[in-house]
Amino acid sequence: MKARVWIKLVLVVAVISMSGCEKKDATVKESEAKPETTLKAKPEAKEIRQMSANKESFGKTPDGKQVDLYTLTNTRGIRARITSFGAILVSLEVADRDGSLVDITLGFDKLDGYLGVHPYFGAIVGRYANRIGKAAFKLDGKVYKLAANNGENHLHGGTKGFDKAVWRLEDLGVKGAGAMVKMSYISEDGEEGYPGNLACSVTYTLTEDNKLEISYDAETDKKTVVNLTNHSYFNLAGQGTGDILGHELMLNADKYTVVDKGLIPTGENRSVKGTPMDFTTPMTIGSRIGQVEGGYDHNYVLNSRGGTLALAAKVYEPTSGRVMEIYTDQPGVQFYTGNFLDGSVTGKAGKVYQKNYGFCLETQHFPDSPNKPDFPSVVLLPGQRYATVTVYKFSTK
Ligand code: GLA
Repeated sequence: MKARVWIKLVLVVAVISMSGCEKKDATVKESEAKPETTLKAKPEAKEIRQMSANKESFGKTPDGKQVDLYTLTNTRGIRARITSFGAILVSLEVADRDGSLVDITLGFDKLDGYLGVHPYFGAIVGRYANRIGKAAFKLDGKVYKLAANNGENHLHGGTKGFDKAVWRLEDLGVKGAGAMVKMSYISEDGEEGYPGNLACSVTYTLTEDNKLEISYDAETDKKTVVNLTNHSYFNLAGQGTGDILGHELMLNADKYTVVDKGLIPTGENRSVKGTPMDFTTPMTIGSRIGQVEGGYDHNYVLNSRGGTLALAAKVYEPTSGRVMEIYTDQPGVQFYTGNFLDGSVTGKAGKVYQKNYGFCLETQHFPDSPNKPDFPSVVLLPGQRYATVTVYKFSTK
């Protein structure tokens, strides 16, 4: 049977079965979370999904901590798997224009891969995503020294950032907005050199209209700095299938933060106009990458300037027809083209990840903001709430 016909049949049966079912907007508590239901439409129809949020074991850390794997599924062809280790997005299966479901994020099949050294595949990065120059910053005249884990600079929260923590399950289920999992992590005062006990949570919500929403929350008991992001590597043609140079990208940003050799912003926000940095109209990622030393690894200053949810980026992959739009309330996005992937990592399904095999669009505050008074502030005070959201919306054309 043709894929399109099959998909239509699946949708019709799904709608009929949903309307006949009990309402799906009630919270399914962790203990009540049911495994996916398989409804047989015709012998050849594989499975009809109900929106679901399930938990299973993903193994244990070397020090014996239990690690979970959560699966969020909607009825429209998206399945996201998230682990409590690093609150990592392990896989994201999204339908192409023919309804074929393929994993579009790089990573590992097993926990082991994530326990080893890897370039932040799918991870929640914190306490401060991206770089802090000379691995130090000042607050109220006091200098805070951080790990210099990227040359002389500090990168992605240090030697044991949020990507290596085991997050605690707070909530899992199907709610009004979709299938969701909420995890929390307390980063203690002094951890990796940062001041203040920071109570964080991250919530992944998969909606019926094919949006994966990641929301971040944090509160502190001492003045500190915070910048959280998700570090997924995408290939909309399917993970491990090749490079991403043929993807078309639109970035809603007229400027980017100019960096020095160590990728620390100089403080200048430069116009992209007439340069290979310009993605204000859709261009393939590969069209001018050769003119950018080392490839793209730059923070774009979003035209929205942050504060309200706005379109930051749109990516289209012509062979599959997959489209991903990213909306965020953050002021910047790090566009990184997997320049450091070099074939040394073997990921999911035995795929070897070569240079440019994935791209990242890390919504964030600008790198080195703690040392750049003119950049939007990343300071969090006791009594304030850090609350941000980024939405990845999928469609095909
Ligand atoms: C970010 C950085 C890159 C690199 C990757 C991880 O995107 O900007 O320079 O460190 O993370 O490899």
